[in-house]
Amino acid sequence: MTSQPDTTYPPSADMAANAHADKATYDAMYQASINDPEGFWAEHGKRVDWIKPYTKVKNVSFAPGNVDIKWFEDGTLNVSANCIDRHLATRGDQTAIIWEPDSPDDAALHITYKQLHEKTQLMANSLKALGVGKGDRVVLYMPMIPEAAYAMLACARIGAIHSIVFAGFSADALAARISGSQAKVVITADGAPRGGRVTNLKDSVNQALINVMHDCKCLCVQRTGQQIAWREEGDYWLHEMEAEVSPDCPPEEMNAEDPLFILYTSGSTGQPKGVVHTTGGYIVYASMTHQYTFDYHDGDIFWCTADVGWVTGHSYIVYGPLANGATTVMFEGVPTYPDAGRFWQVCEKHKVNQFYTAPTAIRALMGQGNEFVEKYDLSDIKVLGTVGEPINPEAWNWYNDVVGKGKAPIVDTWWQTETGGHLLTPLPGAIATKPGSATVPFFGVQPVILEPTTGEEIHDLAAEGVLCMKDSWPAQMRTVWGDHERFEKTYFSDYKNYYFTGDGCKRDADGYYWITGRVDDVINVSGHRMGTAEVESALVAHAKVAEAAVVGYPHDIKGQGIYAYVTLMNGQEPSEELRKELETWVRAEIGPIAKPDLIQWAPGLPKTRSGKIMRRILRKIAEDDFGALGDTSTLADPSVVDDLIENRMNRE
Ligand code: WTA
Repeated sequence: MTSQPDTTYPPSADMAANAHADKATYDAMYQASINDPEGFWAEHGKRVDWIKPYTKVKNVSFAPGNVDIKWFEDGTLNVSANCIDRHLATRGDQTAIIWEPDSPDDAALHITYKQLHEKTQLMANSLKALGVGKGDRVVLYMPMIPEAAYAMLACARIGAIHSIVFAGFSADALAARISGSQAKVVITADGAPRGGRVTNLKDSVNQALINVMHDCKCLCVQRTGQQIAWREEGDYWLHEMEAEVSPDCPPEEMNAEDPLFILYTSGSTGQPKGVVHTTGGYIVYASMTHQYTFDYHDGDIFWCTADVGWVTGHSYIVYGPLANGATTVMFEGVPTYPDAGRFWQVCEKHKVNQFYTAPTAIRALMGQGNEFVEKYDLSDIKVLGTVGEPINPEAWNWYNDVVGKGKAPIVDTWWQTETGGHLLTPLPGAIATKPGSATVPFFGVQPVILEPTTGEEIHDLAAEGVLCMKDSWPAQMRTVWGDHERFEKTYFSDYKNYYFTGDGCKRDADGYYWITGRVDDVINVSGHRMGTAEVESALVAHAKVAEAAVVGYPHDIKGQGIYAYVTLMNGQEPSEELRKELETWVRAEIGPIAKPDLIQWAPGLPKTRSGKIMRRILRKIAEDDFGALGDTSTLADPSVVDDLIENRMNRE
C-alpha cells in the first residue's frame, strides 16, 4: 500500500461524522473567521473562563514602526485557573497528567486534576516564599517530570513569567537566559534520567549562576536523590518548602495582555531572542487548536512527545490539553530506550488516542524495522500528528501504513515558536491530506505567498515564494523580550504590513500549502531550530579558530545536519584531536544539539571583494551539489572554492 506524494487521503466517513468539524463545518467556520474576525473570536474567546469578560476583541497593527498586537485587551483571567480550577467540579478525579518515567520498569503516575491543583498551589506558594510576585521572571531548567508542569502552572497562577530553557542546553546558554530575563528564581532538579543515563542538572545550574550577576535563587526538585553540590546560600529544596507553605494559593487576576511566558528561540542573526506570549489570546488559541487539530474529545488520552523546553511542549503537553480538561501524557524518556519500541509500548500501555511527534523521530524509528511497532496493540490511536520540519513521503507513508494501519489521519502541523499554536494544519474529519503538505490554514489564519524580491502578493492559487501572514491570530507573539525594535525588524520589516515567517512555501492548484524550508540562515536539526550565526560565534570564540561559516546539509535522520567550515589561526595545524576539541567546545558553549556533524578545515572562505562570505556556495558544497555553483567571478579569490570542493566532507 505505498502511496505517492501526490496521493490524496480523504477523511473516512466515520471520522467526518464524529469529528468536531467536517468539511462543511470547516469551510463555514473558516469563512466566518475571515469575514468577521472580531465576531468570530468574540465568540470563541468564550471557550476559556474570564474573570472580567472582554469587550474589545482585536486591536492589531502590522504597520512599519508601529507594530502593536492586542487581543481581548480589557479582559482579565488566569491561565492556571483555566487549566485546573474550572475542571475541579466536573473532573476533579479524572487524570490530568499521565507521567511515564524514563525506565519502563518504574511505575507511571496518574495525576488527577485535584492533585494537580494541590501540587500547583504548593509550588506557587513556595515561589512566593522566595519573593516571586506578579511580573517577575522564573527560569525552568528541568527534566520531563510532573513538577515541570506544576512549575509552569504555578508561575501562571501568581502572575510570574516563566522562561523554560531546554535541559539539553549548556550552563553558558542557561546563564545567558537567566541574565537576559533577570530571573529571580531558577527551578531545576537534582538529576535528569534520560535513556538510562542521568544528567546532573543542578551542577549546570551552579555553574551558570557563577556567571549571573544579579541575585537568583535556585529551587530544586528531588528526582533521583543523587549527590549534588549544594550552594551555601540561595538553594532550596522544593519538598522542604512545600512542608512549610500554605496549601492554598488563589489565582492572580491577570490582564489578557500580561505576559505568560518567554521562550528563547534562534533566528538568522545574533543570539537567540526571547519570544513573548501573553495570557488571553494564547490560551484561547492553544486550547482551540488542540481540540480541533487533534479532534480531541472528552476522555481521550493525548500524547505529545515533545519536551516542555520547546514551544510544542508548552502548547500541546501543558496549556492546550489542560485548558481542555484533557488527559495528557508526559514522557521522561527517549524513543529508543530501552529499545525502538518504546513509543508504541507506551501507546499500548496508556491507550493513547492522539499521538503527536516529529518527523526526525519517525525516520529514526522507521530505520529500526516494523517489528518494534507490530509487537504492540495500537488500536486506540485515532489521529497521528507531526511537527517541526517537512515530513518526507517515505516517513509519511511508514507513519500512515505501519503505525496508523491506514486508519488514522495524519495531521502535519506547521507553526513556530512565534505563532504559539498551529497555523497550517488539516483537521482530521474535514481536510483530505497529501503526504508532505501542512494543507490549509486554521480558523482566522490568512497565509499569503509573496514574491521574495518584490514582496508582491501572488494571487494565483498555484504559487511559490515566501510565506507571510496578512493578519494576526490570538496566539501571535507580542514582542521580543526587552527589544521591541528587534521584533519589528525581524518579522515586519522585509515585507511591509505582513508577518514574515522566514519559511519558503509553495501553494498548489488545490490551495494546499507545502513548506519548502527556511529561507534565512536558520537550520532545522532534528526538528530543533538552530541559528547558524550562533554556532559560528561559538566556534570563533575558540582560541585556535580564526573564522567559521556554518550551513545546513541534508541528513537522513536529522533532516538537516550542521556543516562547519573552519579556518584556523595562523600556525595552528588541523588534526582529529582539534576536531574533537571543537566539538566539545560547541557542546559546552550551546549544548549537544549544536555540535557540528561535519567540520571541514578551510584554508580560506569564499568571499566577495567587500568581504562578505558567499554562503550560497558553501551550502552547495555541503550539499555535495557543486555542479552549479553559479557565478563565482565576483569572489576575491576564486581558487578557494576548488580547495573546498576537493576537501569536502560530504561526498556521496
Ligand atoms: C519548521 C516548532 C514543515 C519551519 C513548532 C518553522 C515545519 C520552524 C513544520 C519553527 C511542518 C515547523 N512542516 N516545517 N509541519 N513545523 N516547521 O519555532 O521551518 O521550533 O519556521 O517551532 O520549524 O520551529 P519552532
